[in-house]
Amino acid sequence: MIKIDVKTGSAHKQRDDAVVLPLLDGRKLTESGKELQEATDKTIVSFLRKFDLSGKFGTTRTLYDVKGTNTQRVLLVGAGEEKELTLQKLRSLAAKTTRKLDKSGARDVSLYFPELSVRGASISDKVQAVAEGVWLGLYAFDKYQTEKKANKRALRSVTIMIPSRKDLDTAEAAVNVAKAISSGTNFARDLGNEPGNVCTPEFLGDQAAALKHKKLKVTVMDKSAIEKAGFTALLAVNQGSAKEPRFIVLEYNGGKKDDAPVALVGKGLTFDAGGISIKPGQAMDEMKFDMCGSAAVLGIFKSVTELNLPINLLGVIPSTENLLGSEAYKPGDIVTTYKGLTIEVLNTDAEGRIILSDALAYAAEKKPAEIIDFATLTGACVVALGSEASGLIGTSDAVKNGLKKSGAHTHDRVWELPMYEEYQDQIKSKIADIKNIGGRGAGTITAACFLSRFVDDIPWAHLDIAGTAWNMEGTDTSPVGATGAGVRLVVDYLSRKI
Ligand code: BES
Ligand code: MN
Ligand code: ZN
Repeated sequence: MIKIDVKTGSAHKQRDDAVVLPLLDGRKLTESGKELQEATDKTIVSFLRKFDLSGKFGTTRTLYDVKGTNTQRVLLVGAGEEKELTLQKLRSLAAKTTRKLDKSGARDVSLYFPELSVRGASISDKVQAVAEGVWLGLYAFDKYQTEKKANKRALRSVTIMIPSRKDLDTAEAAVNVAKAISSGTNFARDLGNEPGNVCTPEFLGDQAAALKHKKLKVTVMDKSAIEKAGFTALLAVNQGSAKEPRFIVLEYNGGKKDDAPVALVGKGLTFDAGGISIKPGQAMDEMKFDMCGSAAVLGIFKSVTELNLPINLLGVIPSTENLLGSEAYKPGDIVTTYKGLTIEVLNTDAEGRIILSDALAYAAEKKPAEIIDFATLTGACVVALGSEASGLIGTSDAVKNGLKKSGAHTHDRVWELPMYEEYQDQIKSKIADIKNIGGRGAGTITAACFLSRFVDDIPWAHLDIAGTAWNMEGTDTSPVGATGAGVRLVVDYLSRKI
C-alpha cells in the first residue's frame, strides 16, 4: 500500500507533482482554492471561464505549469453541491483522482479534499474516508496478467492536506484506522479473486494460519480432525470433492480475559458447482467467489489485529468445494449435523446453509456474546437487493441496529428482511428434522430460518452477501471482482463497542 501522510499548508507552496483541489458547483472554490487564486494572479479563475468548468461531481481538469506554484500540475476536481456531499463521495473523489494521477505518471500528490464540509462528519471521518478512497481505489488484482503486473505503479505517496494544524494528530490517527481497514478489505478481495484452483480449502487454512499477532491463535483442522470433532454436515458436502475440507478456528483475545467474544462465522465454499443439483453453465466461474464470507471473516481479523482492538473475537470457517464426484451427496440424502439435528437434502446446491450449520452450532457452543455470520448464501438476495446492500436477518435488535448504523457510516450497507415465524414452516421436512430448501418465495429468508436452528439463543445476525461480495462492473472504490463486503461494515461495528 502506498504511503499516505497528513499536512497543512498552502497549495501554491507544495512541491508535489500534482496538487488536487475540489471545485464546487457554480465554480466555487474552497479556501485553499481561493488562496491559490490570489497567489497565481487569478490564473485559476480565467482558466475556469475559458474551459467552462462548472464543478459538476466527478469532472476533472488539469492545469500544467501554473505561474506562482511549485507543482507541475493543478488538478481541479468537481465535487458537486456541497450540501449533497457524503463520506462516500469523498471516497469516490479520492479514488478517482489518485487512479487518474497514477495513470498519468504522477509520483507524489497532495489532496485538498478534507476542507469540503460533509454534514455530520468530523475532520477525522473525512480524512479517514479520503485515505480509504485512495487505498481501496488503487487496489488491483493483476498477479496473473504478465504485462500489467510488470508495469510499476507511478504513484508513490499521497499527502492529505487539512485546514488546521491542531487537527494533525487526529488526522494521523484517522489515516492509521483507514490503513488497517483497507488492508483487511484488500486482503479479503485478494482471497476472493484467487481462482478456485488456487484458493482451495487448504489454501484458506494456510492464509488463516499466516495471520500473526501475539493475541491471536489459529487452529486449522484437516479432514481427520474434522471427522474426530464430528462436523458431519461439512463432511457430507465435501463428499463430492477430491480436495480435503478444512475447519478453521481463530481466537483473538484483545479484551478482558473472561469477556465473551463476538463470534464471526463465514461460508468458505471455494467453488460451488451446485453438486448433483448442478448449476447452469452461465457465469458458473463466478462461483469461485462463494468463499467471500470466509474472506470477510479473515479480512476482519486482519484489520482488528492491526488495530489492536481491545475486544475478544472468535472466528469460525467451514471450507470445502461443492462438486459432483462419485461419492457426492445426493438429493434425498439425510445428513446428521454436528448439533444432532437431521437435514433432508432436497437440493445439493443449497450447500452453504449445510456447512454453516456445523460452524454456527460450534460457535454457539462457545457461548459468545453474539454471532454474526457472512455468506454468499442465496441468488434470491441478489434479486432482492442487487449489489447495493447485503441482506440482514437476525434475532437481535441490538446487533442489527448496530450493523445498520455502521452500514450507513461506511457505505458497506445492509438492508433488513423479516424472519416471521410463519416462514419457518417452509423448511419442515416429512422425514427429517428440517429440509434444506423452502418453497418458491422468500429464498433469502428461508435460508436464514435454516441457519437460525443452529444458533441456540445467542443474539445473532446473518449477512447474505451474495449480491455485494463481488461486482463484475467495478465502482470507483472497488475495481472488478471481489469487493471485500462486510469487512468495513463489521470493523466499524466492532470499533464502536469500545
Ligand atoms: N452460492 C450460492 C448462492 C449464490 C447464487 C450466490 C448466485 C451468488 C450468486 C448458493 O450455494 C446457492 O446455490 N443457493 C441456491 C439455493 C437454492 C437451491 C435453494 C440459490 O440461491 O439458487
Ligand atoms: Mn450452491
Ligand atoms: Zn454456494
